[in-house]
Amino acid sequence: MFLLRAAEGPRWMAVFLLLAALCCLFSPVVMVKHENFKTCEQSGFCKRNRQFADDAASSSWVSPYALDPASITFKDGQLAATVLKTLKEGEEKVRLPLIVTFLESGVARVTLDEEKRQKGDIILRGDSKARKERYNEASNWAIVGGLDAATGAALSAEAEAGYTKVFYGDGGKHQALIRHHPFSIEFQRDGETQIKFNDKGLLNLEHWRQKVEKVEKVKVEEKKEGEEEKKEGEEENKEQEPQGEDESTWWDEAFGGNTDTKPRGPEAIALDITFPGYEHVYGIPEHATGLSLKTTRGGDGAYSEPYRLYNADVFEYELDSPMTLYGAIPLMQAHRKGSTVGVFWMNAAETWVDIVKTKSITNPFSLGLLGKTDTETHWISESGIMDVFVFLGPTPQDITRQYGELTGFTALPQSFAIAYHQCRWNYVTDEDVKDVDRKFDKFKIPYDVIWLDIEYTQEKKYFTWDPLTFVNPTKMNEHLDKRDRKLVAIIDPHIKNTNDYPVIDQMKSKGLAVKNKDGNDYEGWCWPGSSMWIDAFNPAAITWWKTLFKYDSFKGTASNTFIWNDMNEPSVFNGPETTMPKDNLHHGNWEHRDVHNVNGMTFHNATYEALLERKKGEIRRPFALTRSFYSGSQRVGAMWTGDNLAEWSHLHASIPMVLNQGISGFPFAGADVGGFFGNPSKELLTRWYQAGIYYPFFRGHAHIDTRRREPYIAGAPYTEIITQALRLRYQLLPAWYTAFHEASTTGAPIVRPNFYIHPEDENGFAIDDQLYIGSTGLLAKPVTQEGADSVSVYIADDQPYFDYFDYTLYQGAGHHTVAAPLEKIPLLMQGGHIIPRRDRPRRSSGLMKYDPFTLVVVLDKDGNASGTLYVDDGATFDYQKGAYIHRRFGFDGKRSALTSIGLGTKGTKTDAYLKAMAKVRVEKIIVVNAPSAWEGKTEVVVSEEGAKESARRKKVAFEYFAKDGKKAAWAVVRDPKVGVGKGWKIDFS
Ligand code: NOJ
Repeated sequence: MFLLRAAEGPRWMAVFLLLAALCCLFSPVVMVKHENFKTCEQSGFCKRNRQFADDAASSSWVSPYALDPASITFKDGQLAATVLKTLKEGEEKVRLPLIVTFLESGVARVTLDEEKRQKGDIILRGDSKARKERYNEASNWAIVGGLDAATGAALSAEAEAGYTKVFYGDGGKHQALIRHHPFSIEFQRDGETQIKFNDKGLLNLEHWRQKVEKVEKVKVEEKKEGEEEKKEGEEENKEQEPQGEDESTWWDEAFGGNTDTKPRGPEAIALDITFPGYEHVYGIPEHATGLSLKTTRGGDGAYSEPYRLYNADVFEYELDSPMTLYGAIPLMQAHRKGSTVGVFWMNAAETWVDIVKTKSITNPFSLGLLGKTDTETHWISESGIMDVFVFLGPTPQDITRQYGELTGFTALPQSFAIAYHQCRWNYVTDEDVKDVDRKFDKFKIPYDVIWLDIEYTQEKKYFTWDPLTFVNPTKMNEHLDKRDRKLVAIIDPHIKNTNDYPVIDQMKSKGLAVKNKDGNDYEGWCWPGSSMWIDAFNPAAITWWKTLFKYDSFKGTASNTFIWNDMNEPSVFNGPETTMPKDNLHHGNWEHRDVHNVNGMTFHNATYEALLERKKGEIRRPFALTRSFYSGSQRVGAMWTGDNLAEWSHLHASIPMVLNQGISGFPFAGADVGGFFGNPSKELLTRWYQAGIYYPFFRGHAHIDTRRREPYIAGAPYTEIITQALRLRYQLLPAWYTAFHEASTTGAPIVRPNFYIHPEDENGFAIDDQLYIGSTGLLAKPVTQEGADSVSVYIADDQPYFDYFDYTLYQGAGHHTVAAPLEKIPLLMQGGHIIPRRDRPRRSSGLMKYDPFTLVVVLDKDGNASGTLYVDDGATFDYQKGAYIHRRFGFDGKRSALTSIGLGTKGTKTDAYLKAMAKVRVEKIIVVNAPSAWEGKTEVVVSEEGAKESARRKKVAFEYFAKDGKKAAWAVVRDPKVGVGKGWKIDFS
């Protein structure tokens, strides 16, 4: 503030106002409100554990945890023992039951609990109804398989004093070396340590203790220490308090006007996990950060805050920040040349992760040359048991597969769900929806799904339609259905607390709402004003939720209506950190603090279940989008990265965020195309579409205050360029769907970062601004800089790469400049792959169902290529009964032949599906990098299984195009008329 003299006031004021207005014009005023969210220092348990880490850094530090060797038992792949925590001299040790399970998959699981709380042998403060145990049900939500104990795991015969050694996994290649005193574990693969638990001595389980009220405390101490009687009033004297631990946030904690009561006192669980020799760690979404995670305890370019996992509605989130966002997956993988390992910290409470990298000098005579880097991580959760899975790789594919076996693979979506979605807050009437739909057709722009945000409801009452604006939703749905288009409507977890609304009446009368700490229905503020939240932890709530989605209950919806779950962190406008009080109670009397990070997933899961059962006998794969997520959410739908900004920096940030989702087991991910807040320039919007076609979940969305920006609005040349981008997505839908199928069966990401494809290429470990699509060899580098007319694409290997459109060759490891004027999308094809496409432009993916295929055969440096195609009805679960086509195409350079062989296994519905697809053929084969020996050739010989004698070895026209400067030679087989579901061979020799 500055003061103005009276006479100068008006003139200066005018200048000031003008300046202020200019500032608003030129510098975005949007900024996250840091004060609404805690820093580690403001979060009691985080602060205590960082302090613990600082104390432990002293050379005299000895971890107070020791395993009692006499307590060890080992049976059926499971080691059980008691870890003892030593307190002060003379105090009884705290007993912590430890279980280490060695799984058949080669994964190890370590759980540590607290005996006293486990037995319920604690006293809750006040008259709290909360559960006494540490939360141990995260696995009920996160884990769906992979828990078979290893039959071959065995204790080592050779006894080493002070250690217990277990051989497990991969024929005994893995070992767990458990040290007794102090307690620590080293996980080794082939005799080499990959992961260490408690190597730094940061294991800290805050054991239960009774609150000693001040007056009593002095008395207890007086008695114990046998001091003289204190005079009255002395208990108020701060100097009488024992020195030592900071108890200020043990029993309650205030933040932003809310006080969190803690009926069980301090109960954090923390552990250091070290990855020796690993410089790169990835994972632990969701953060707006690069793929390779930064260090968090200061230093150049480092963060000073730990990465935080506490699902929250962070308004106008900032980039390059470890601040929490909407979802949490506590899976981290560490990568180095030759090895990838990982840990899954399965805890549902607020969690912070510090990362420190230390360089060690391996050779003291190396004159300053540094040796390997170790990554030391420190995991700190507010409550719950310690439950950690350890993956020893050795490849990135092993980690995603094993993690997927535990938490489930991505659900195979309906095919429309991987096409383009058009959303905004809001399409305002049913006529508006139809009008947008017609305009897409008028401009020949493909799209599949139109979305309705919260304004379609009557006063934000979900499962209702605003009668003035959405007069005839049924007709609207029918209109969309004509071109096989779908509608997605939003349904949030806050239920308006009002009269005359059956949904809230039912929820209250059935007792299905989340409760406050006193056990009454919790009431907070969200879009509808006063609201209550469905407690989807309660099976009865899921049963009830299902009834609301039946077509005759949610009238106006039909089989082409799907659902968007937003605000499920949960977002509570007047709650602490915009969410629920931690002392709220859920089903089973678990405190919200215990379950916060899985809360969003339970709601998303309830919606998925409801969509499965809308109508008896109608079985379609559900589609439900979620904003909040946890490990396991991938089983029930897609996610998006929330409220981004219409700025180039946010476009850029979306690529590593989506890549990170992929390697963290939840690959069906995308960001709002165009940016949610603000109005993108036409250039930005165009570039965003060109990037968005590479998001597995591809949706344009915009805030209610923004201008309309459907692709047809931008005008020439932008509309045409955006349309071309959309067509490219649609052309490649067969490749995308095949990548989704792979994700749904192996856990492999749908879009993949460089390190995942080239795990040996050290130069590419931190590259996160380009991506590979599935196993297709398609390498995309989206333009994310304003005014750019070229991009630098990083090539990791010595294979030839070809421009997707004109076959220009790029070869040699390193960076290559690829032209990228506005109308061009930088996309390369790595030699060695066969890419399936459908080339006929259509209005929606549904209309492409029986279209023929094109195969692009991109020969590698040895003249070979291979690829796969997966096709099914894109809607039902019949594929589980064999109703699908799964082919492997292979081009063998030596024999100069292309073959198609089946990969599927026959089921009860195979024949019927193949019959339905009998006429669907491969209509074109393009061979890129075609051998010069083919020059002059005019036909190839095609043979197909089951063909009539006369049609065997038919000759088909072939054209060859010679190399042209940097453009590779290519050839085309026009209409070989081979069935896509059949076995066949094309002879080029
Ligand atoms: C917040 C969501 O992130 C945004 O996408 C949506 O438009 C608004 N809620 C309104 O529902």
